[in-house]
Amino acid sequence: MPASKTKPAVPEPTATGPSNFLSVTDERTGTSYRIPIQDGSIRATDLHQMRAGSDYGLLSYDPSFANTASCRSAITFIDGDRGILRYRGYPIEELAASKSYLEVAYLLIHGNLPSKSQLSEWLHNITFHTMLHENVQKFMDGFHHDAHPMGMMVSTLAALSTFYPDAKNITDEHVRYQQAYRLIAKVPTVAAFAHRHSVGMPYIHPSNDLSYTENFLAMMYRPSWTTQYTPDPVLAKALDTLFVLHADHEQNCSSNAMRAVGSSHADPYSSAAAAAAALYGPLHGGANEQVVRMLQEVGSKERVPQLIRQVKEGKRLLMGFGHRIYKNYDPRARLIQQTAEEVFAVTGRNPLIDVALALENVALSDEYFIQRRLYPNVDFYSGIIYQAMGFPTDMFPVLFAIPRMAGWLAQWIEMIQDPEQKIARPRQVYIGPPERHLEISGAKAPVRKPSRTVVAKRRAPEPS
Ligand code: CMC
Repeated sequence: MPASKTKPAVPEPTATGPSNFLSVTDERTGTSYRIPIQDGSIRATDLHQMRAGSDYGLLSYDPSFANTASCRSAITFIDGDRGILRYRGYPIEELAASKSYLEVAYLLIHGNLPSKSQLSEWLHNITFHTMLHENVQKFMDGFHHDAHPMGMMVSTLAALSTFYPDAKNITDEHVRYQQAYRLIAKVPTVAAFAHRHSVGMPYIHPSNDLSYTENFLAMMYRPSWTTQYTPDPVLAKALDTLFVLHADHEQNCSSNAMRAVGSSHADPYSSAAAAAAALYGPLHGGANEQVVRMLQEVGSKERVPQLIRQVKEGKRLLMGFGHRIYKNYDPRARLIQQTAEEVFAVTGRNPLIDVALALENVALSDEYFIQRRLYPNVDFYSGIIYQAMGFPTDMFPVLFAIPRMAGWLAQWIEMIQDPEQKIARPRQVYIGPPERHLEISGAKAPVRKPSRTVVAKRRAPEPS
């Protein structure tokens, strides 16, 4: 059948998906195979039966997992061609408009929105785990004064593992949920402490009478000489909306890190530290910081064409543009743009928004970006809002990590519960030298004859 020119939509999950088959012929041997297709995918291990002679069996080669599903997941659905994002089936637009971040965190982790009593228990559990052990504070004191807050976040998450040895019992459901409360509750405290440390101000302890984002804003900005501080409700609400938009994004680089490290049965603090480290990179959650640095460097609308030229000449990336999955406008970027106006009504307009809008206009009408289907992603506008709210630029990736904790935990819990998931251990296509031997004092090293069992196991193809 000739390849269709219009790409079909991403298959949506159905209660009882149709079962069909892929028929292929291995032209090396003339053998035909019938491989089951389930939910739009074949199992890579079904290729293993396709052998030519004594080779290992066919592998699928997929550097950077461009077309490989590593799990079956019921958490987040993305259709990148249509610009659709849903958590547990709910469109992101509906959740952002009417649910709080903690309700959405519950939804991601438990699968359904909480009832009234479930919500109050959930809020109670999160609220009463916000404190950090005194020794965690001392640990954070040890960072250099100009340490990047995201570096502090990565290390402190790993350090938390040493404070909760019970977390290693990952097979106990109660223990798993206990760590989810702790991590969601403590991550804003770690974030705010990282900021206070970097500006040399005393830490502000969590206030249990405030909402999740109000408490975070208070720990960030409350002067140390007073207990009186009321975060602006519009800013607290806008931050909450941003947290909803950042809460999960299926198998992105950091969630994949969370699952991969967790698959060795490491505790969730160590896995979350690995996930945060992945998020730190400028191609992932570190992009929001780089976008603002790029916009500051451009400075004015007039200099936008110069930046676009550099991007097209391959000299740099347009940060905040492009996505592995979205080949259409990232729905989160659209919602963030709307939130920006609400924030500016309180903080005043951040002039960088005009540079960003001009940049978007030029890029979206330029053949380079059209051909490659590059659109603004979640990081393009978020930094501009964070800056208007008074967050220092190097806090932006940390502001991504706080809400993404819910997604990482949901992915981790799903992975632990999935009987099909084993230790994450990809294969490789070996392209190094074939067997060779050391020359010892001019003489060839003796060649040891491998035993029969070794010969039988050694099936991996060697390059000729
Ligand atoms: N600026 C310029 N060219 C780009 C960009 C960009 N931002 N993104 C992709 N391209 C080009 C790329 O050079 C390639 O061109 P060619 O076909 O001529 O070689 C083509 O578009 C396809 O790109 P790719 O590198 O195959 O795409 P990918 O799926 O491997 O990478 C990405 C996705 C997000 C890493 C990439 O688009 C990128 O580096 N963007 C800038 C960083 C960024 O904004 N990251 C945030 C991602 S969204 C939120 C998150 O995950 O945290």
